[in-house]
Amino acid sequence: MATSQTIGTQEPRIACQTVARAREVPSLTDDVEHGLLTPPRFLPPKYFYDEYGSKLFDKICETAEYYVTRTEDALLKDCAESIIDQAAPDDILELGSGTSRKTRRLLDACEGLGFCPTYSPYDISPETLQQTALDLVDEYDWLEINILIGDYEAGLRHLPKSDGRRLFCFLGSTIGNFEQEKAIAFLREIRSRMNPDDLLLLGADRVKDDDVLHAAYNDSQGLTAAFNLNVLKVLNEEVESDFDLSQFEHRAEFNADRSRIEMRLVALSDQTVVIGALDTSLRVRAGETILTEISRKFTDESLSGMLNMAGFSTAAHFTPANKYFSLVLARPQAA
Ligand code: SAH
Ligand code: AVI
Repeated sequence: MATSQTIGTQEPRIACQTVARAREVPSLTDDVEHGLLTPPRFLPPKYFYDEYGSKLFDKICETAEYYVTRTEDALLKDCAESIIDQAAPDDILELGSGTSRKTRRLLDACEGLGFCPTYSPYDISPETLQQTALDLVDEYDWLEINILIGDYEAGLRHLPKSDGRRLFCFLGSTIGNFEQEKAIAFLREIRSRMNPDDLLLLGADRVKDDDVLHAAYNDSQGLTAAFNLNVLKVLNEEVESDFDLSQFEHRAEFNADRSRIEMRLVALSDQTVVIGALDTSLRVRAGETILTEISRKFTDESLSGMLNMAGFSTAAHFTPANKYFSLVLARPQAA
């Protein structure tokens, strides 16, 4: 079930739907109540992506230090034809599509091989989806786009069905932002929406030198720091809090034992923060932290283990010579 809506454009090749929730998910106020009021403090990463946060993320992708986007893009350029050849898609459905930066490699390959699929980008950020769709119809004169707006954590049961073969894409290593159990549950849910001939293209960042990882999440322009701090601005707007952004600083470290970057906000002073929407306040001591994101880094074993546990088998695994990133084309195993 998805409700259609106009998107303020007369572009006939763009349709737009809000995907209905298949289950209730906590609201931002719930997440603040459960995650922020008492230590250990944490917030889900989806709140980074308001309009400004989405723009900051896009800028991070262009920094010299954030190898993730560059590496995946170059890899996709090399293997897109093979992926499209195997998937033969009638629709490409991308979860957490953002600006669809790298998806263009797949669309180019479709063009080259004579496929003409529809594109269904699914994201929580409507502004990003709408601008991206307008850009894409300019770039590809054959492309029809069905924008899907929604929170994928609220379940995929109401995703529109596809008549033909669908290539599901989950790129950028966003799967690394999920804890293992949630990642497996989410991949299982994707699998449950797939027909036997559909394929999943999953991007996953790999374990590498600590210095490279550290630099990627501590860029010299301070964009990742701004992206991290922006979540406090989102809270101030949405839950009527009065976080003083100058009293927190960004910290991102690689936790080798857990094979993940952990991104935190660290309080620089003792402070009391009002949360208007909850009619309460929060006492934070200098040095206390809020965990705002994990970004897991995979090995061959952890990646194939996760996919297996979610009911996928590997149809193809692409990785560059430096082994910085993996793109796995995965097939749903029979239930
Ligand atoms: N796939 C793109 C963008 C990655 S950034 C790339 O590889 O560059 C993560 C994207 O996921 C953002 O566009 C964000 O808005 C979206 N996102 C995060 N949480 C989401 C959620 N719960 N539901 C839907 N989209 C989400
Ligand atoms: C979207 N996600 C995969 C990014 C990552 O690398 O975990 C988000 C990000 N956080 C800081 N920089 C980029």
